[in-house]
Amino acid sequence: MNVWMSLIVSLIAIGAVVVVGAIGGLVPALHPVFGVVIPYAALAVFILGFIWRVLRWAKSPVPFPIATTAGQQKSLPWIKQDKLENPSTRWQVVDRMILEIVLFRSLFRNTRMELYKENGKLTYGWQLWLWAFALAFHYSFLVVVLRHLRFFLDPIPLPVTLLESVDGFLQVGLPSVMISGFVLLGAVGYLLVRRLYVPFMRYISLPSDYFPLFLIASIAATGILMRYVVRVDVVGVRELTLGIATLNPVVPDGINFLFYIHLFLVCVLLAYFPFSKLMHLGGIFMSPTRNLRGNSREFRHVNPWNYPVKTHTYDEYEEEFRDRMIEAGLPVEKQPAESGSATDTESAEDSAE
Ligand code: HEM
Repeated sequence: MNVWMSLIVSLIAIGAVVVVGAIGGLVPALHPVFGVVIPYAALAVFILGFIWRVLRWAKSPVPFPIATTAGQQKSLPWIKQDKLENPSTRWQVVDRMILEIVLFRSLFRNTRMELYKENGKLTYGWQLWLWAFALAFHYSFLVVVLRHLRFFLDPIPLPVTLLESVDGFLQVGLPSVMISGFVLLGAVGYLLVRRLYVPFMRYISLPSDYFPLFLIASIAATGILMRYVVRVDVVGVRELTLGIATLNPVVPDGINFLFYIHLFLVCVLLAYFPFSKLMHLGGIFMSPTRNLRGNSREFRHVNPWNYPVKTHTYDEYEEEFRDRMIEAGLPVEKQPAESGSATDTESAEDSAE
């Protein structure tokens, strides 16, 4: 697909989602559908889709250790193993995995090769901005989602309240400013601008790259609008969300249509999630290049589905040609007497003569 077409298609798609959400919010008769039915359906698609994807990955055969390694594998005792880069035990794999998941270590180590035309020098440069913004994006998303638990749990658990007070520590104005929401929007903005600005990123970007970014940016933007600009009836929202959580749905009147846009965007995100690149959330745990041990020097891994190949071993070869080998004066491993067959014995005698 043409580079700009990918962007335009995604913009049209996100525009359509916003319009449908707005209609759902503006037409009171549709509130039960957009406030209850669609959220439940989206949640069901998310959960079932997620399980289906993970099971499909789990079923894929992985006959060999194909861990991505960047260090010395465990081999002879006097050769120092790099336990982090080339883990050979399950715990070492867990250590590496934790650093990957919590700190995006491989992204931190990502470098880009560039050839400077002026002096013809080849250099490897750090790509730390991508790492920093990716971290900011994922952590702010996590914090925002955790803070939203206050809508679904009653009483609000202490950790959620604590998280809220840490996130709002700047205490700017009323309602207090939640930093994570703005960090989320800023980080999505960076990821989007990077795709559009860097020519080779633009070249490889598809609607499936832009759409999730637009979706998450729109969720954050409508959330921020609801909190700081168009105040929504949070009590009504909580009634609705607690109803959903307790399987006792109620649809209160008077909630601003912006809330329905926000909610519909979230539903689309949930339903889209299992079929999109966002599934790397589950995929990271299932990735054989990350979750396997680099132990191919310690153990011989035999492909369990090798089909039986008809082989002809040296023993069988010698058994077949022993007479002629002896005749030709070639060395044999077993003398005819040892091999035990009558023919062999006869031929040995023949040759002795
Ligand atoms: C992927 C999930 C979601 C994301 C990323 C998200 C993001 C945000 C953000 C960034 C804000 C701005 C204020 C803040 O930082 O807290 C916000 C506010 C809000 N969100 Fe969400 N949201 C999500 C899911 C939901 C859901 C499922 C609901 C309810 C069903 C909801 C209801 C609200 C409401 C009512 C506000 C205004 C809060 C206030 O005025 O204090 N959000 N959201």
